[in-house]
Amino acid sequence: MNEDTRGEVVINNESDIIVVRKKVREAATLLNFSLTDVTRIVTAASELARNVFLYAGSGVMKWQTLKSSNTVGIMLSFKDSGPGITDLELVMNDGYSTSRGLGLGLPGSRRLMDDMEITSQVGKGTTIVVKKWRRCY
Ligand SMILES: Nc1ncnc2c1ncn2[C@@H]1O[C@H](COP(=O)(O)OP(=O)(O)O)[C@@H](O)[C@H]1O
Ligand SMILES: [Mg+2]
Repeated sequence: MNEDTRGEVVINNESDIIVVRKKVREAATLLNFSLTDVTRIVTAASELARNVFLYAGSGVMKWQTLKSSNTVGIMLSFKDSGPGITDLELVMNDGYSTSRGLGLGLPGSRRLMDDMEITSQVGKGTTIVVKKWRRCY
């Protein structure tokens, strides 16, 4: 994993969500995440990429592998210059949606990943960073 340990996918169209899924699946598989964890990571990436497309119109997903002495991980960031999120606590509630969606994308992604950080400024945009770790001995 020396080469190709980071990359990005520009999200402009709905079909770019498929590209995000593919890149994230490849990266997580190379890191030897279990099939279950790969599915969790891809599902979260898919939801967050869809939100970028749906609420901001466009943005970018960056992925990067993480390594420390006895863990490897994957970090995904989703950055857009859309409308931003007014109430960060509210959007983390199961079922909250401004688009008649299921309102599970954000809270679900947080549960599927080990860590999630949201930074958002109304009128400027949103950045969401998620991480997943795998212990290796
Ligand atoms: N990137 C984003 N920019 C602006 N608003 C967002 C973004 N992502 C999520 N939101 C807001 O958070 C709400 C909850 O998102 P989510 O949990 O994915 O549910 P859903 O997409 O089904 O509505 C959305 O309805 C939207 O109002
Ligand atoms: Mg959503």
